[in-house]
Amino acid sequence: GTGTGAQRGCGCPSLGTYLTVSIEPLPPVVVGDAVTLKCNFKTDGKMREIVWYRVTDGGTIKQKIFTFDAMFSTNFSHMENYRKREDLVYQSTVRLPEVRISDNGPYECHVGIYDRATREKVVLASGNVFLNVMAPPTSISVLAADTPAPFSRYQAQNFTLVCVVSGGKPAPLVYFKRDGEPIEATPLPEPPVGTGNWAPRNLLHRDLDDTKVPKSLMDEGEVGAGQAPATMDPPRGLAAERDPVTETIPETVVSREFPRWVHVAEPIYYFRHTHAPVSDGTVEARATLTWTLNPQIDNEALFSCEVKHPALSMPMQSEVTLVAPKGPKITMTPTRARVGDTVRILVQGFQNEVFPEPLFTWTRVGSRLLDGSAEHDGKELVLERVPAELNGSMYRCTAQNPLGSTDTHTRLIVFENPNIPRGTEDSNGSLTGHCGFRLVLALTLTVILELT
Ligand SMILES: *[C@@H]1O[C@H](CO)[C@@H](O)[C@H](O)[C@H]1NC(C)=O
Ligand SMILES: *[C@@H]1O[C@H](CO)[C@@H](O)[C@H](O)[C@H]1NC(C)=O
Ligand SMILES: *[C@@H]1O[C@H](CO)[C@@H](O)[C@H](O)[C@H]1NC(C)=O
Ligand SMILES: *[C@@H]1O[C@H](CO)[C@@H](O)[C@H](O)[C@H]1NC(C)=O
Repeated sequence: GTGTGAQRGCGCPSLGTYLTVSIEPLPPVVVGDAVTLKCNFKTDGKMREIVWYRVTDGGTIKQKIFTFDAMFSTNFSHMENYRKREDLVYQSTVRLPEVRISDNGPYECHVGIYDRATREKVVLASGNVFLNVMAPPTSISVLAADTPAPFSRYQAQNFTLVCVVSGGKPAPLVYFKRDGEPIEATPLPEPPVGTGNWAPRNLLHRDLDDTKVPKSLMDEGEVGAGQAPATMDPPRGLAAERDPVTETIPETVVSREFPRWVHVAEPIYYFRHTHAPVSDGTVEARATLTWTLNPQIDNEALFSCEVKHPALSMPMQSEVTLVAPKGPKITMTPTRARVGDTVRILVQGFQNEVFPEPLFTWTRVGSRLLDGSAEHDGKELVLERVPAELNGSMYRCTAQNPLGSTDTHTRLIVFENPNIPRGTEDSNGSLTGHCGFRLVLALTLTVILELT
């Protein structure tokens, strides 16, 4: 490795003063390693100075990292060779004990010698080298794009896994495996830089959800014979709703009725790889794997994302198992609700590890929720200041992800509250009677005080 050294500033080769500079090229180094930059120069002149520069910002900034000035160095007598006109080879070294990513970049070594003719004029030459610092990836994770998303009984849907690998330099090689076997995927081109569309959107799909229209069919289909009713029943009155109370609570219905639209044995996978530079000099790599989901064969499939990188001695990996929600555990607090209490119904977890994260929807069977809405999204349903009328009302929690859907029902039992006499709460659930009752108590108390 030579050639990078360039002679500069010597307009007087007549007397044969010469200077050549070269820096030995460096193999890539890994963060934390020690590295030695070596600048070799050959001259028949007397050395004046050596300066090392760190070049940043595309060459616009040169920062001195080491200077040797022969003029102020008394201990350089062995370099007093200009009289003898002998060729000498020198080596100047700079050692970086623990390289960092920020040390990555070009370095220059500048050498100055005295011109033999004038013994004053300085002849300059320099060499340069690029220090390539690699960093192993520090984290890897697999997530599902566009979660939470609903299960679709009626339409094939694409499903996308995203593998995010960060901390690496250069960008790592990312690939997917299914059940331990490498996936042969059709590569898709990198999207244009700056579109930023590889960031996973945290979309709630309610408005884009094609299954929304047939949802009422789904609801009835589970209970009944699977025929689509032509019309929805109008909300039933409270009296009608209280009638048959025989279910065990909570009741779980796991939907295993899969559609007939997919029969492809080998799914076609699409693969996309994108990189985004991070300000610390590393690269965040994202690989996406997209295919048309078939819940029948994809449920419980193990997908892993692996990374190969020159700074890693062995591949790094992260894995997920696609699993439909099953057997949600529902708790109600307080366990013995009384009229006027605020009741919280919460999904605490599932029998299994569910992936991707499910979408939760609460509805009241046969009626609207206490606040008048038809449904509520979220893990928890809060019923504020429950009126006696809600006694026996049934709530359904639908937990779904693209692999499947499950319904759980729970019935609310409200007990009488000795602090709130029967019938004082209005049908909106607010307790107008409650304040009145307090007022009566206060008045009574006042009377007693006056008597004593
Ligand atoms: C001069 O250099 C010699 C050998 O390189 C070294 O042993 C000596 O300590 C140095 N003296 C000074 C004053 O730096
Ligand atoms: C699924 O993704 C592939 C590749 O991007 C696309 O060609 C296909 O139209 C998509 N299918 C659906 C149903 O969105
Ligand atoms: C609610 O119904 C249960 C029986 O299902 C009953 O024991 C309880 O007294 C009822 N509560 C009220 C406030 O009527
Ligand atoms: C129930 O609430 C609605 C709207 O908040 C109100 O118009 C109505 O008068 C309330 N009914 C009672 C019985 O308080």
